[in-house]
Amino acid sequence: QTATDVWYTVTAQAGESQLLPGPKTKTWGYNANLLGKTIVFKRGKHYHITLKNELPELTTFHWHGLDVSGPYIDGGCHAPVYPGEAKEIEFTVDQPAASLWLHAHPCPNTGYDVWQGLATSVLVQDDVEAALPFPRHYGVDDLPLVLQDRHFHENNQWDYDADYDPDGVQGPTALINGTVNPTFDVTTQRLRLRLLDGANRREWRLHFSDDLVFEQIGSDGGILPEPVKMTKLMLTCAERAEIIVDFGHYQPGDVVTLYSDDTPLVKFKIHAFTPDDTKLPDHLVDIDDPAVDPDAPIHKVVMSGMDESVELNGKKFGMQRIDDRQELGKTEYWDITNTNDMEGGMVHPYHTHGGQFTVVSRNGHAPYPNEHGYKDTIGVNPGETVRIKMTFNHPGIFMYHCHIIEHEDGGMMAQLQVY
Ligand code: C2O
Ligand code: CU
Ligand code: CU
Repeated sequence: QTATDVWYTVTAQAGESQLLPGPKTKTWGYNANLLGKTIVFKRGKHYHITLKNELPELTTFHWHGLDVSGPYIDGGCHAPVYPGEAKEIEFTVDQPAASLWLHAHPCPNTGYDVWQGLATSVLVQDDVEAALPFPRHYGVDDLPLVLQDRHFHENNQWDYDADYDPDGVQGPTALINGTVNPTFDVTTQRLRLRLLDGANRREWRLHFSDDLVFEQIGSDGGILPEPVKMTKLMLTCAERAEIIVDFGHYQPGDVVTLYSDDTPLVKFKIHAFTPDDTKLPDHLVDIDDPAVDPDAPIHKVVMSGMDESVELNGKKFGMQRIDDRQELGKTEYWDITNTNDMEGGMVHPYHTHGGQFTVVSRNGHAPYPNEHGYKDTIGVNPGETVRIKMTFNHPGIFMYHCHIIEHEDGGMMAQLQVY
């Protein structure tokens, strides 16, 4: 027991949430009725986590984006916690500051568990991020936004089975941080939003009213090498983006709305604030770019099909099968292909457990400017091959899959061994 040890308990529990007028909705959450409080990790500390399951069925606790060993700590399908039971895991957090998340991952019921509410944001903090001129007063000018959608049925209940679609379950009502129609009171000129696509299937095409310009400062695995100015941002399932919005041109009483396409997601109500003319530096952080051994094989991932026919490399997921291997500490290319038809085919958000990658190219072209940082999930467009560069720092068995959760549950998933 040292100063760097921290103990924490995460309980998966069932509850009820007042989401709409009338009856409460039956929901699940982590230490909460729905979703959960943000979990904050500090780089360098050693965490002892008790995972408790108070649900009527087994679940797992997956640390999406956390660089830890697999599969028992990482929390994929191999790590069930049975109803009424608890399990202890421990790990040292050693990766750059980032916005990650925790979600359930019991195969093939991940879609159901996440729909019920088993997802919450997880932040990693470090000294590098702490020295940058970013807003970081949690809940005041630094706000996680978990973007989800739901379908409310009779008595305000969710019904996953009734809404089931093998291409991903979705609903017409946006649920933001577990709230329908949220308003946020803006009391500072600059606001940092840590956006997470926590939906089972939906992509978000985000923009603000007045086409307000914002700057993206972070992606899945940490801070970007340089800030990227934009007016539109697309997030596919499980992707994260940290952005800074500057409300300097607004007056108290104004309302700025965050939309996805035409759907309003969050209203930002402007209050009086102290002027803040902080400018971001052109360079934020350094990104490692390790060399790839020219003789190393290029790993191939082919995501094919839609609905029940989804496959990865021509196969459905098999938990007894190791599909690929990579040596600990080596950096290798992975080519991720989406064979869907360019006309009307789906984007498959590709995700790998076990750490972060960098994006090398999209169909041979340079990645988008906001893809220059660390990522663990990337939208692969129909007809596209995305080349990524991956180094694993921990041994074990890790899954890699499409993060449309019903595609993953439907078998568009495989596993690799890091040795
Ligand atoms: Cu976000 Cu295999 O998970
Ligand atoms: Cu993951
Ligand atoms: Cu998919």
